[in-house]
Amino acid sequence: MSNDHHFATRAIHQAYKPLENQGALTPPVHISSTYAFDNVEQGGAAFEGENDRFIYARLGSPSQQLLEKRMASLEQAEACLATASGMGAITSAIWSFVKPGDELIADLSLYGCTFSFFEHGLKPMGIKVTYLNLSDTKLLKQHISKKTTLVYSETPSNPNMRLVDIEALANICHQYDAKLMIDNTYCTPYLQQPITLGADLVVHSATKYLGGHGDLIAGFVLGQQEDIDHIRYFGLKDMTGAVISGFDVSLLLRGLKTLHVRVDRHCENAQKVAEFLDTSPHVKNTFYPGLPNYAQQPLAKKQMRQAGGMIAFELNATREQSAQFVNALEMILCAVSLGDAETLIQHPASMTHSTYTEEELLEHLISPNLIRLSVGLEHIDDILADLNQAFESVFGDSGLAISA
Ligand SMILES: Cc1ncc(COP(=O)(O)O)c(C=O)c1O
Repeated sequence: MSNDHHFATRAIHQAYKPLENQGALTPPVHISSTYAFDNVEQGGAAFEGENDRFIYARLGSPSQQLLEKRMASLEQAEACLATASGMGAITSAIWSFVKPGDELIADLSLYGCTFSFFEHGLKPMGIKVTYLNLSDTKLLKQHISKKTTLVYSETPSNPNMRLVDIEALANICHQYDAKLMIDNTYCTPYLQQPITLGADLVVHSATKYLGGHGDLIAGFVLGQQEDIDHIRYFGLKDMTGAVISGFDVSLLLRGLKTLHVRVDRHCENAQKVAEFLDTSPHVKNTFYPGLPNYAQQPLAKKQMRQAGGMIAFELNATREQSAQFVNALEMILCAVSLGDAETLIQHPASMTHSTYTEEELLEHLISPNLIRLSVGLEHIDDILADLNQAFESVFGDSGLAISA
């Protein structure tokens, strides 16, 4: 199937023909750890890359290859590698390209374990990590040098929903032969395709929207064939071993089929929730790219197809009251992760970003009263009603009327 077909069609059909597989509508799951050869010569040729035989599941399997082809088509990337987790994707990719003496420049706001990896994985190995507010493109121009191997950012960022201009950052990186790596977990390729904007590598936690049902942990790295081969045969094969299981491949193929439908509804619900929060007297700031008062809305319109399912908001409250607000919710679940059918909420300062010191929280723009909300697929009235009753429970009144 060519890339001329629409996203939804490719998400369902790309790289698989049931009639070539005994009519099986759902692709078979390959769980074999090893693959047999006709003879030593054929095995030897496989190791030399002279034929396309599978060798061993740490290097790939037929069902993994199908998933990778489908995902590459959705991200408009030349190649893709599926991994055991989002962190497996991030670490396998980064270890493949950095060496002692190199510099990695990262945005200030990052998923907590990515930050930990930079602090406790890269820095002790002699790799310099510099955090900049990459929403301000000028800062990259001022700091980048020939020692910068990688520039890394999420957009929107976890947990505070800041955006970076992918195209502008890519242009600067390429003047210095640095690679731009974008974590596209919040958007998925349905809402944003960083490679078409100039990014060199894209990583995903497929655990989130791509799987979509909270029943798997997986990741992806996408980019040019040469880079993905290097990550597969070095970063993943020899360094992290972060191999995806055949069962998770199968769940992801299922998740991708409904991605566009789910994400449309996540966005629709999130827009209404953001508008509701933004009118609350108990909310100091609502960070959502779909709000007209969101400072980076022009950039969101330039590089995102819709505003997404994630919202961050700061309460007009103390850190303790912010935690109480989360605790007062009844249907909405206090849980990390995101992109599931269930609406999930968490308090980053106490949970995902709890390894940060008070100073680091401020430095990385995560206020103690910040709350992260992953808006789910429940009926919008029920989501709003639960938020409303939590406001009443903590503040004595909601301060608003619900109008969904
Ligand atoms: C933006 C982002 N990137 C990467 C990860 C790590 O992914 P995983 O949990 O699949 O290892 C997460 C997990 O929450 C995330 O939110």
